[in-house]
Amino acid sequence: MIEKLEAIGTQALKDIQATSQLDALENVRISVLGKKGALSEVLKGLGSTSAEERPKIGAVANEWKRKIEDALTDRKTQLESSALQARLSSEKIDITLPSRMPHRGSLHVITQTIRRMNQIFSRLGFDVATGPEVETDFFNFEAVNMPKDHPARDMQDTFFISPSVVLRTHTSAVQMRALQTKEWPLRVICPGAVYRSDHDATHSPMFHQVEGLWVDRNVKMSDLKGVLEFIAKELFGSQTKIRLRPSYFPFVEPGAEVDVSCFNCKGKPQSSCRVCKGSGWLEILGAGMVHPRLFELAGKKSDGSYRYDPNEVSGFAFGMGVERIAMLLHEIPDLRKMFEGDSRLLQQF
Ligand code: PHE
Repeated sequence: MIEKLEAIGTQALKDIQATSQLDALENVRISVLGKKGALSEVLKGLGSTSAEERPKIGAVANEWKRKIEDALTDRKTQLESSALQARLSSEKIDITLPSRMPHRGSLHVITQTIRRMNQIFSRLGFDVATGPEVETDFFNFEAVNMPKDHPARDMQDTFFISPSVVLRTHTSAVQMRALQTKEWPLRVICPGAVYRSDHDATHSPMFHQVEGLWVDRNVKMSDLKGVLEFIAKELFGSQTKIRLRPSYFPFVEPGAEVDVSCFNCKGKPQSSCRVCKGSGWLEILGAGMVHPRLFELAGKKSDGSYRYDPNEVSGFAFGMGVERIAMLLHEIPDLRKMFEGDSRLLQQF
């Protein structure tokens, strides 16, 4: 029996060294030390051996069992560590490789246009003022000289939130907010979204305007013209001319609509010019001298005198459509396209 045990043990140690996988090692363990393993099978014959031989055989069996167990443990540690090494090298990440380009967003063409306008106006000393898009009837209408029954209210199709709250229909709503909170001399532009119930190729229910307001002693219509001419040249090129046509807005007197000469055909009307349709001119804004009524509505000081005394100060205001300008600059044929979120269009800017 001792020889058998020696043979099993020697073979088992060889088998253990020969394994290269953890599950193969476990199979060796079961086949030798398991309940039905080779060692147990031999020891079943222990009963038929003599009383002096039995302890010797038992001692040899235990010795082999210990040796085999030690060998199993050592081999297991070896296999586990080489498995770990293999995994570490196969899963190694080369951090020196160039990474994939992240998808970068860009500023919307309207934001770009507003920022560009902010920059141009800031060079003339204008500050940026803002007001809420959900606005009271007072600031949107009353404060710009359009009382409840004023027919000019029909000029703008209004979204009403409640009878006294609207989505502002123009950035002129910020004029009175600026007048009521700031002292003169005043030079602000108010960029922002405005809303009108309108929807076609050149109108969107939400669009953007940049309002301008300049109030000081002695501000004249010629100052308005000078500022607008500067802006037009900055936006559309140094050859650009402007023209003012008389128009009506309740909050200015006199009022004007302002055209710029077509930058495409350089103001030399050709019936084929697709930008100005052959007229040579492009309408871009409304403007005028601030109506004295607005100065009165701006309130009084504690001594009873006007904060903006219509006899002391004068000013001009203008409001331009940002989409209109972006469409002209980039030849975008349909205003609605700018708000459909199609990245193929937006990526071009
Ligand atoms: N608020 C006018 C509009 O939306 C534009 C405008 C602003 C006209 C300031 C005159 C002065 O049509």
